[in-house]
Amino acid sequence: MAKKLYIETVGCQMNVLDSELVVGSLRRQGYELIHEATEADVILFNTCSVRQHAEDKIYSALGRLRRHKQRHPSKIVGVLGCMAQKDQELVRRRAPHVDIVCGTGQLARLPELIAEVERTGRPQLALSLDRNEASRPEVERSFESYDPLRDPSMRPSPFQAYVRIMIGCDKFCTYCIVPSVRGPEQSRPSEHIAAEVRQLAAEGCKEITLLGQTVNSYKFDRGDGRPERLSGLLARVHDTTGIERIKFITNFPRDMSDDLLDAVRELPKVCPYLHVPVQSGCNEVLRRMKRLYTVEYYREMLERCRERVPGVAISSDFIVGFCGETEASFQRSCDLVATAGFKNSFIFKYSPRPGTKGDELYADDVPEEIKKRRNNDLLAIQNKVSLADHLRLVGQTVQVLVEGPSKTAQKHDAGAGPRQLTGRTRTDHIVVLEGNPRLLGQTVDVLIEEATAFTLFGMVATGEHVGIGADAHAEEESCTIIETQGSPRLSLPVI
Ligand code: 5AD
Ligand code: SF4
Repeated sequence: MAKKLYIETVGCQMNVLDSELVVGSLRRQGYELIHEATEADVILFNTCSVRQHAEDKIYSALGRLRRHKQRHPSKIVGVLGCMAQKDQELVRRRAPHVDIVCGTGQLARLPELIAEVERTGRPQLALSLDRNEASRPEVERSFESYDPLRDPSMRPSPFQAYVRIMIGCDKFCTYCIVPSVRGPEQSRPSEHIAAEVRQLAAEGCKEITLLGQTVNSYKFDRGDGRPERLSGLLARVHDTTGIERIKFITNFPRDMSDDLLDAVRELPKVCPYLHVPVQSGCNEVLRRMKRLYTVEYYREMLERCRERVPGVAISSDFIVGFCGETEASFQRSCDLVATAGFKNSFIFKYSPRPGTKGDELYADDVPEEIKKRRNNDLLAIQNKVSLADHLRLVGQTVQVLVEGPSKTAQKHDAGAGPRQLTGRTRTDHIVVLEGNPRLLGQTVDVLIEEATAFTLFGMVATGEHVGIGADAHAEEESCTIIETQGSPRLSLPVI
């Protein structure tokens, strides 16, 4: 009988992709993916360390499994990803029933680690080197980009896929744990990426999202003195037959170069959507965060994006309550949100991360209550801006790639016939429409009829119009989780 695998994922798109690849490689070893942890032979948690909340979730899930593991000692429990790399042996001190601790740069070894636990009954640790523990090349080698063959059934949808173009980060923003847990920035060879995109297209994939912590810093040395940049890579994958849309996340403001913006404008499959987190509207806070730019620079960059890519939609991330953030500095973030015209913003309360410069240098001096209030206040301003942006689209026809049933339709199975579906525009706006499920994976013209701050509602412009039920607005609920959102895509399984 096939062995059963359960995997729970928290965190960003990188983690969603890592989990997809882990499942793909274990399927090839004969595992069957199931959705009930207690039924599984191997129970995996792919973890996130960006905020404390994400770690707490995993430790409490592990706590709930303790009795189960005592009763079934042959079941294997594994902690993968960022928290594994960050906490290392501490994971097993806090949860001694964990068999495998495997960092982000060691995921290729997972099948071997499982076999070793089965063989010896002993716990297995697979971790990359700490960044200050060895030379850069040694640390780089210990963080392996994990990109084995893909399993189409594990993707967010069969016609959409993430493609990793780089791993790690060298920016060292003072609040951020990513450079430690995901290691040095390393770009994948452009030919490998192009080959992966061709394979995905051959499997029926229509939309790819290129992933990197600072995706626009992509730089691959081809050995001819002319390194490939993101603009060149976009041109290279653009010609892949079958691919209709290309997106890329997440951008670092300082690396938003003109050649990249020109590529976004000129290449019709590249979507006019840019996620460029600013984090704060106050120069003093940006300096303490070591973001390497000022608000003035960021505003100019926004203008440049809009000039070079007409109609571009831009979204951002903010951290509220960072060390030393006064009411006056918070007000500057409010001013930026009120005037920058972001499509949407993801807003997070600062969570001190041991091991970061921010935690070492500055006191976490903004009380939780104030962080909460600032979070809500900033969100309220963004919601007004988003609503205005959405209302502008009412009456217009937009192209929507239909991704799946809406949250409401998932709850109430409507049987055959028209259903409430959800998809995205080329500018990454979420659209709810009614239509036949055969529209899944199709790009359709949709006339926008109504809008809230989170969702556009419309009807297929060319086909029959089936009125949208009153409960369509329940879709909003799925999008109001911004405070705890770990990723810029609202539809992903996130913390
Ligand atoms: N606390 C709160 N938010 C954080 N982010 C990164 N580190 C922290 C932290 N320590 C946010 C940033 C980043 C997003 C993915 O998570 O806004 O862009
Ligand atoms: Fe973290 Fe800054 Fe790197 Fe983004 S750019 S992953 S916030 S260190």
